Amino acid sequence: MKPYIICLMITSPDGGLHPSKWTKSPDGTASDWSSLYENTHKELGVNAWMVGRVTMAEISKAASHPPERPFNVDRTHHLANPDASSFAIAVDPSAKLHFDGGEIYGDHVVVLLGADVADSHLAELKADGVSYLVSEESNFDIAAMVTALGARFGVKRILLEGGSATNGYLMASGLVDELSFVVAPALDARKGADRVVEYGQDGLAGKAELSLISCHQLEFGAVHLRYAVHYPS
Ligand SMILES: NC(=O)c1ccc[n+]([C@@H]2O[C@H](COP(=O)([O-])OP(=O)(O)OC[C@H]3O[C@@H](n4cnc5c(N)ncnc54)[C@H](OP(=O)(O)O)[C@@H]3O)[C@@H](O)[C@H]2O)c1
Repeated sequence: MKPYIICLMITSPDGGLHPSKWTKSPDGTASDWSSLYENTHKELGVNAWMVGRVTMAEISKAASHPPERPFNVDRTHHLANPDASSFAIAVDPSAKLHFDGGEIYGDHVVVLLGADVADSHLAELKADGVSYLVSEESNFDIAAMVTALGARFGVKRILLEGGSATNGYLMASGLVDELSFVVAPALDARKGADRVVEYGQDGLAGKAELSLISCHQLEFGAVHLRYAVHYPS
C-alpha cells in the first residue's frame, strides 16, 4: 500500500522558499518562523521525511568515496538497518548524492535510485550503512518507488519536505495526500524565484485539486494552512 504523504513547507504568501531572502516583519523573524516549521514537523508525528536530490545535497555534503572492488551488491534494494524506526529519504535518480554515515538527524537514510546506478555507487552506500531502493523501470517511476518504500521498509506516512521540483513530481504522479504550509508574513517577490511547488511549463492545472482542511493562526504572524489534495480521474 502507498504510504500517506503530507507535503510540509515553510513559505511566504507568494510561494517563496528561502526565508533569508524575504522582507522583514514586525511580527517575527526568519528564525521564529523556522522554529514554527520545526514544531509543525514534530507535531505531525511522522517517522519518515523525504527530500529531492538538490535539497539533500544541502544537508549531506560528502564527496564520492567508492570502496575497493569487488562490489558485492544487491541491485534491487538494500536494508542497512533492519531495526530503523525513522527514515530520511532522498530521491536521487541520477546517483549524485554521497553520505558519510547511515543517519541524518537521527533518522536512517534511504536513497531512491535510478535503474542505471553503478555498482560502485551501491557499494559505497552499503559501506556507509545507507539503505537504498533501485528503480525496476528504466524510466524512474516515483509511484512504484514510494509503494516499495512501504513494502520493503514498512514506511506508512511520509513528510515530503521539498524542494519545489520534487513536490511537483510527486503531485503530478498523484502521490501527495495533503499540503501543509507554514505561511510567514513576508514576501519574496524576486523575479524568477523558486516557488513552493513547480511542475514544468503547464503546471498542475487539470492534474490536482485542493480543498481546505484547516487554517490555524500561529505565533509571529504566521498561519498553518492544510489542504487535502484530490486527483481528477
Ligand atoms: N522552504 C522550504 O520549506 C524548503 C524545503 C525544502 C527545500 N527548500 C529549498 O528548495 C531548493 C531545492 O529545490 P529544487 O526544486 O531545486 O530541488 P529538489 O526538489 O530538492 O531536487 C530536485 C531533484 O531531485 C531529483 N528528483 C526528485 N524527484 C524526482 C522524480 N520524481 N523524478 C526524477 N527526478 C527527481 C532530480 O534530481 P537530478 O537532477 O539529479 O536528476 C531533481 O532535479 C533548495 O534551495 C532548498 O533550500 C525549501
